[in-house]
Formats: sequence, C-alpha cells, structure tokens
Amino acid sequence: MTILDIIEKKRDKKELSKEEIEFFVNGYTKGEITDYQAAALVMAIFIQGMTDKETANLTIAMANSGEVLDLSKLNKIIVDKHSTGGVGDKISLILLPLVASCGVAVAKMSGRGLGFTGGTVDKLESIPGYRTDITINKFIENVENIGISMISQTLNLAPADKKLYALRDSISCVESIPLIASSIMSKKIASGAQKIVLDVTVGNGAFMKNLHDAEKLAKEMISIGKLANRETVCVLTKMQEPLGYNVGNSLEVKEAIEALKGKMAEDVKDVVLELGAYMLLLAGEAESIDKAKNLLTENLQNGKAYSKFMELVKTQGGDVTYLEYLENFEESKYVEPIYSEKPGYIYSINAKEIGKLACSLGAGRVRKEDKIDSTVGVSLLKKVGDYVTKDEELAYLHVNNLEQLESAKERIKQIIKIREDKAEKLDTIIKVIK
Ligand code: URA
Repeated sequence: MTILDIIEKKRDKKELSKEEIEFFVNGYTKGEITDYQAAALVMAIFIQGMTDKETANLTIAMANSGEVLDLSKLNKIIVDKHSTGGVGDKISLILLPLVASCGVAVAKMSGRGLGFTGGTVDKLESIPGYRTDITINKFIENVENIGISMISQTLNLAPADKKLYALRDSISCVESIPLIASSIMSKKIASGAQKIVLDVTVGNGAFMKNLHDAEKLAKEMISIGKLANRETVCVLTKMQEPLGYNVGNSLEVKEAIEALKGKMAEDVKDVVLELGAYMLLLAGEAESIDKAKNLLTENLQNGKAYSKFMELVKTQGGDVTYLEYLENFEESKYVEPIYSEKPGYIYSINAKEIGKLACSLGAGRVRKEDKIDSTVGVSLLKKVGDYVTKDEELAYLHVNNLEQLESAKERIKQIIKIREDKAEKLDTIIKVIK
C-alpha cells in the first residue's frame, strides 16, 4: 500500500479501509508521509467526505497515534468539554474552573486558534508564566491535587490530530464534518475523558453554518462516543454574533476573569450554565439540570469558581497578580473607539467577520508558524438588539500596527449593522442532543 493509492482512492470517492486510514495516520505522525501528500488527502476528504465507518476509524487511529491516558486511578468520573469553535468563545476559561469548584475533575487538553476562531491555549498563554506544555505526570498530578489542569497538545496525546489540525488550518480544510468529529473525539479519547459534553456551535461564526450540518456533526460525535464507550452530550449553541463582548486573546482572558468575579455577559452565562449543568449531571455531582444550575450559580456568586481559577493559574506557573489586577495585562499601542453614525437598533454583528478582523490585526495565525499578538482584537460595547444613539461608542479596536487602523475602522463600521426597526436579542441555546 502507498499513500498515492490512498489519495487516489479518496480522490475518486471510494471508501478507505481501516488499514489504509491507519497507514496514513501512522505514516504522517512519524513524518514518513509529507505535508503535501497529507494536504492532498485532507483536501480529498474535505471534498468527497467520509462514511461513518471511515470517520470512526480515523478517530480511533488518531487517538491511538500517541499515548491514551488512563485516569481511572483518580477514582473520579472525568467529564471533558470541547467546543467546535467560535468567535469570542472564552467558555472553557470560565466553565472549567467553575465545574471543578463543584467537584468535577477536569483534565482538559485544549487547542490553539483555528481559522477565524480563537483557541483556549493561545488565550491561557496570554497570562504571563502560564505553562500549557507540562508533562503528562504533572498534568495528572494537578488533576489529582487541585481537581483541574488545562494544557495544550504538546504532550504525546493524539499527535496525529496536532499535525492535521495545523495542516487543515493552513490549507482551508477546517469546515468538514468527518475532520472536525475525528479531531475532537480523538483528543477527548486520548486524554482520558469518560464522559464528554460538546458545544456544537451553529452560525456564520462557527464551522457549521446551519442547523442541519450541526445536527449531523453532533450525531456523528455521539456515535463515535458510543463506539468508544464515552457517553457524549451535545449542546447546540448559536454563533451569529461573537460570544460575550471581547474577541482577542488577553481581551478574552480579562473578560473571563471578570465573569468569574461575577460580571458575566448574558449569552456567555447561558452557555456556561447549560454545558456546566450537563457536566455536573454526567459526573454524578447533581441530580437534575435545575439543581446543577443552582449549584453553578452559587459557586459563581460565592467566589469558589474564581478561587479555583487562581489555583489553576498558580499551579501551572502563571502570575496570579494579573488576575487580581487586570490593568497589569499589556495593552495594545492604540485603543481606538468606534462611534455609531446613526441612531437605531443593532441587528447584526457578523461573528465570522469580527473573527477575521481580529485575526488580521494579529490575534490569529495566517501560517501555522505565525506568532500570536495577545494584546490585539475587538471589544464590543453593544450586542444585537441594543439601541444606540448617534455618536455613541459601539466598540474599541485594539491595534499595534498603525497602518492597519484606518482599514480596520472602516471594516468594523460595515460589520456592526444598525437599523431603525427594533431588533430582537439573539437566543443562545438551540437544543441538546444525547
Ligand atoms: N476543534 C477541534 O479540536 N478540532 C476541529 O477540527 C475543530 C474545532
């Protein structure tokens, strides 16, 4: 068997066997298959799709491409969470310390920014000193000692996904159901999750643009979960406008810290409570969704969730003074206010466009080796449904490169759309699929 035969088969829309998929995954992980050959196969998969059987085999091969953690010695049910990606999605930073403070053990391996969406690892790394690349033993030790660890994919966990994730990002092959399902589920299986709660985002700012595709992705991941004996729940959430108010790495971290201190945007709170309630339920820490939501709300109000985040940051080497004094975070050189040119209701803030704008300012990568600028991005002051007067502040642009400022101002004015007619606020939670 050769990689050329495999590329040709998928190019011609034929089903790949388990052995062919394993040959590709193992060969690419070891560097025996080149980036350009892998790119050709990934593009063929993107265009031709995969059967459920192929997607399941790809997931298992990727999960087995490195170590598969056995966390049973922790004597706790490990419930993991993952999002299919979004703009302004700082949910993990708030949700995971919150559920950990309620007794759920959290062993979380997060990703970096992908396409126009941000990644939790890039955000965590904007806290000076925070180490996302600790050893497996330290990762497990942290979960054992403080009930939570959040790391990147630097460990030998699903290394095939790490390579494929970066490759897909650099060749515009992210928005594919089999590739997203296998990417997410391989990571969850490898990092030892027994139960999984997934935030499947839907809308212009998500990889799934419509409900039909999002349901298909959710069902695919649930069936892979069944096959691997990991109970999986998917919460479908709307991603039409950015989640919360900030887009950009340290801007989102600051918003997450404020949320843990009690000041949380409504849409962020909806997602945190819904996902959190299912995590508590699956972990056996609550008997019903309502009781779980009460417990979560209590731990947000009494400061336990914030204390858990402090503990996490401290344990992973981060400077906790930044959490206490948000002004310690470095600011971009220019912080430019954007004013409304007319009175009216905001009826659209296209999340994908805001994500692309933030990326173009340096918050994301164009090439996989690019460095992130943690200080840049967009702070919205308004959400869809809000009324604004003429000359009222709508947003701030955080920019380091003066040459980008004028065009960024023009772009954001086009993105935030205002009309005379009343516009409704957007709902956040669409449905839950089990
Ligand atoms: N998140 C992942 O981990 N992988 C994807 O492919 C998309 C979102």
